[in-house]
Amino acid sequence: MLVDILRGSLPLAGSDIARHWDVFYAFLVWISVVFFVGVIAAMVYFSVKFKARAGGKVNDVHGHTGVEILWTVIPTILVFTVFGWGYALYRDMVTAPGDAIEIRVIAKQWLWQFQYDDGRMYTNQVFVPVNKPVKFVITSEDVLHSFFVPNMRVKKDAVPGRYSTVWFEATAKGEHDVYCAEYCGTSHSGMLAKVYAVSPEDWSRFIQGKEINTQTLAAVDDQVTTTHASPSLTRAPSLADKGRELAATKGCVGCHSNDGSQKAGPSLKGVYGHPVDLANGDRVASADENYLRESIENPTAKLVKGYTPVMPTFQGLVTEPEMNALIAYIKSLN
Ligand code: CUA
Repeated sequence: MLVDILRGSLPLAGSDIARHWDVFYAFLVWISVVFFVGVIAAMVYFSVKFKARAGGKVNDVHGHTGVEILWTVIPTILVFTVFGWGYALYRDMVTAPGDAIEIRVIAKQWLWQFQYDDGRMYTNQVFVPVNKPVKFVITSEDVLHSFFVPNMRVKKDAVPGRYSTVWFEATAKGEHDVYCAEYCGTSHSGMLAKVYAVSPEDWSRFIQGKEINTQTLAAVDDQVTTTHASPSLTRAPSLADKGRELAATKGCVGCHSNDGSQKAGPSLKGVYGHPVDLANGDRVASADENYLRESIENPTAKLVKGYTPVMPTFQGLVTEPEMNALIAYIKSLN
């Protein structure tokens, strides 16, 4: 009920996490209302009661231990409640379930690119299914941006040189705005995109290679689109396929095998998501996107045990979409 009163001032709640954020938000608002009313009422009461009067005398004010304990303990409990609740929600927002569909997001001045496992890439529009968790792996090509989908109540910074993740499960079919929520230069306010949440039927056709008509939010049949040849005949290479090609053209395969055998560098097989022992005795708990990226751009930073630091840096030699493809390829070797 207390949440519903605020509903009119909030954007559509298009995901489960949105509903949870809204309850938390309502708690913050109503707590503020209670304190605002209490403080103003006390102020008015005191100004009337202790109004300066002719012949009035000022009394000394002494401490009151009971009241002091009360006004220390209650705010402390409230502050820790806000922290604990907010932290739990934040953790839910950034920790995607294992079976989430993965979409890579590349921010740059001033647009959004979305890269799918099947190699397709879209600018300023991204398609997601309803009622399925979707994880976004976000990075930036230039400066700080922030991926913000108000209807889903998720926001995550896009940081150049590293990956951050956020996820949601859309519950409302339709079109949802994406904003950039970090000032990033001249056209920051124009850095907009759309999330199109489509039905499970249209999603399954989408992942078979069909396109989504953004007006009707339905998958388009091949007869209608003449721009695409039959996907069964000219199946576009997947992101991992592109990564395999890149590993060859960039020369990675000279030193890194894909079958577990040792060359000058460690094999790429089965690296992703597994622990890695380092030459300095440290251990990387899980080789994730950020670890793989660092190992490509700054290979000596976390030298793998048993190898010599002979790999040159690839900093600036791999574009963001290429980096995503290389990582998708390494993941596919598990
Ligand atoms: Cu990108 Cu602001």
